[in-house]
Amino acid sequence: MTQSPFKDGLLDGKVAFVAGGTSGINLGIAKRYAELGAKVAVLGRNPEKAANAAAEIGHGAIGLTADVRDYGAIRAAMEDVRSRLGPMDIVVSGAAGNFLAPALGMSANAFKTVVDIDLNGTFNVFRGCHDLLAPNASLIAITAGQAVNAMQLQAHACAAKAGINQLIRVLALEWGPDVRVNGISPGPIEGTEGMARLAPDASTKQKHFERIAMKRWGIIEEIAEGAVFLSSDAAKYITGTILDIDGGSQLGDATRRDLGSGLA
Ligand code: HXC
Ligand code: NAP
Repeated sequence: MTQSPFKDGLLDGKVAFVAGGTSGINLGIAKRYAELGAKVAVLGRNPEKAANAAAEIGHGAIGLTADVRDYGAIRAAMEDVRSRLGPMDIVVSGAAGNFLAPALGMSANAFKTVVDIDLNGTFNVFRGCHDLLAPNASLIAITAGQAVNAMQLQAHACAAKAGINQLIRVLALEWGPDVRVNGISPGPIEGTEGMARLAPDASTKQKHFERIAMKRWGIIEEIAEGAVFLSSDAAKYITGTILDIDGGSQLGDATRRDLGSGLA
């Protein structure tokens, strides 16, 4: 990755909580926050993953366990963060579940499970953190292209991520001017669990690739840079927006064509 424009110490004194920060993209975000000076807490369900993530992040990061579907548990975890690290300046809601299945291959519980983790989990994280926040806090939900592009085998994730996009906008309206609420919509990011699940074979990978205007996969560090931007003073007038960090994956058919000179 090219040199980051962000300077060491940018997030000195800030406290960041990353739900779903024990692996993949969200772990990358948590690492970057810590590198730039924030005190960081990450949360997932698996205690071993949480402990390993905290060790990998270093800088005194703490790893916590709770299920984002359980409001009481997530609230208790965030109270713990406040008492150990201080009021939270940055909260990321990134926990998600996904699998490929046609709507008719999903039980009611299968559909509900993904909506509960992604959408209700984001409500729980954001609702639960509000009175534990520092002044001028920045909240970020991790959404996906499924929020705006209907995709086969993704009824649960499309519904859940679309709900997250509107939740971001409503909370931005209700919680301004004290709290900013934004989203990040990553494109396909190489080496992640999400890619392994949603593009399990070469032909599915190729279909995703064809949508990318930039003609390469995204990398975790590029999502982390966007999260730093949205959490920084550079974004202090930005709320209620979704930042697509996806190499242009939402734009349409990006198949390479011979466009000639473009002159009539
Ligand atoms: C149909 C399925 C299924 C499948 C599970 N279910 N997998 N149905 N096809 N492949 C059903 C189960 O049968 C059950 O329904 C219900 O879903 C709940 O399953 P559990 O295993 O009991 O749930 P739980 O233990 O809570 O686990 C949740 C999970 C799991 C989502 C199923 O995969 C998980 O924990 N995932 C977290 C990690 C993850 O998915 N990361 C990727 C995020 S990527 P019944 O009726 O039998 O009870 C992403 C977008 C990426 O979000 C975009 C990339 C381009
Ligand atoms: P990942 O590695 O599977 O990370 C998921 C994280 O959420 C883990 O820390 C996991 O830890 C935690 N988690 C899952 N269910 C939870 C629950 N019920 N309660 C608490 N924590 C839970 O996923 P990823 O591929 O990096 O994706 C991260 C985010 O980016 C997701 O929001 C995803 O939708 C979004 N996204 C990813 C891509 C991509 O290319 N990967 C593209 C677009 C959007 P435990 O398993 O220990 O709970």
